[in-house]
Amino acid sequence: MPAVIVLGAQWGDEGKGKATDQIGHLTNYVVKFNGGNNAGHTVVIDDEKYALHLLPAGILSRGVTPIIGNGVVVDIEVLFQEIEEMTARGVDCSKLKISSNAHIIPSYNRFIDQANEKARGHNLIGTTGRGIGPTYADKMNRIGIRIQDLFAPETLAEKVALALAPKNEIFQAVGMDTLDAAEVTQELLSYAERIRPMVSDVSLEVNNALDRGETVLFEGGQATMLDIDHGTYPFVTSSNPTAGGALTGSGVGPTRIDRVVGVAKAYTTRVGEGPFPTELTDEVGEELRTKGGEFGVTTGRPRRTGWFDAVIVRYATRVNGLTDICLTKLDVLSGYKSIPLCVAYEVDGVRTEDMPLDQGAFERAIPIYEEMPGWDDDISQCRSFDELPENAQAYVTRLEEISRCRIQSIGVGPGREATIVRYPLLGE
Ligand code: IMP
Ligand code: MG
Repeated sequence: MPAVIVLGAQWGDEGKGKATDQIGHLTNYVVKFNGGNNAGHTVVIDDEKYALHLLPAGILSRGVTPIIGNGVVVDIEVLFQEIEEMTARGVDCSKLKISSNAHIIPSYNRFIDQANEKARGHNLIGTTGRGIGPTYADKMNRIGIRIQDLFAPETLAEKVALALAPKNEIFQAVGMDTLDAAEVTQELLSYAERIRPMVSDVSLEVNNALDRGETVLFEGGQATMLDIDHGTYPFVTSSNPTAGGALTGSGVGPTRIDRVVGVAKAYTTRVGEGPFPTELTDEVGEELRTKGGEFGVTTGRPRRTGWFDAVIVRYATRVNGLTDICLTKLDVLSGYKSIPLCVAYEVDGVRTEDMPLDQGAFERAIPIYEEMPGWDDDISQCRSFDELPENAQAYVTRLEEISRCRIQSIGVGPGREATIVRYPLLGE
């Protein structure tokens, strides 16, 4: 199976870091195709915890060439900080490649993120404040700064001046400090020589690798429900974390993709604002948060928690064309007498199995639950499906049915080894 897309099937933080690391050590390339340092991937290897924001999780797998595709927005300062930190911990970052077409997050866009959020008043998005949205906006507005611009200082200076002028007006209007275009340009240029050896034609590189029969994993940041087109707009991120984003974000055609793996937690979480039908705002939700360690890797914010919502996972199966689901954190659900499973919504008195047509209806959706019997046993040592308690097996089987996609693997703990692989993707 040479080309595999791994992406989030819910609102993020499904455990994609562990999933990509797990599949990644069997691949030759790992390509990050969207997002930036708003992501937070946690990978635990031999009790050592690695938190990655910008670098692809695949960087932790020996022998893999990690790639940052054109669909990613790159904060160069963060990039080098993360490279230094990982190198100091013995992780080999020397093979890292970056697309010359990837856009850079200039410092002013971090401030714009803050200014925008301030201007929204009580209509907050809850962004991570890393300048992600404004940088994608600049890209679409055709005033973005790309990696390749670092090697043409005069053009860079012009582009920065053009992009910064309207932003300085905003800073002035909201009482924030303005920035100097020449200084911003100099700061960007100071990274040029360090980044030069990493710059590459990612589309060419990845397609050539596929031609040679090598294996490529496309690693999505954020998740389906945060997709700018298919998510809960406007409470979304500004990129396409869905399967289509893997193609445009790396320069690969759809006919080259063999498997699309959606990572889904055995329950649901969300960080930031926006609708969340199965959210538990009571002590049950608090307990899930504590048991699951549901605090953001990037911002440290407590995550909102709720039961598994099959409507959104079924939707993720559809919009991504999922071939497999990688189910994570099943161990967190041990100890419940029964586990509610959302199988449909009631919207204005009508039962609906699919995502409502408009955002207002989604906000009014009331989950319709099926109660599944729980289990008490500690399942963290289980390594095959048959070893799971009967009720846990029944829970997974029911999820599989209503999500309309096979569950390829089941996570039963944070470690690399704490996984039940039901159907090997790459010959694990
Ligand atoms: P932004 O991507 O920083 O603009 O944030 C937009 C929304 O996406 C906010 O609700 C964030 O909390 C959410 N978000 C962004 N990145 C992630 C992620 O990696 N995991 C979960 N939520 C995220
Ligand atoms: Mg995360």
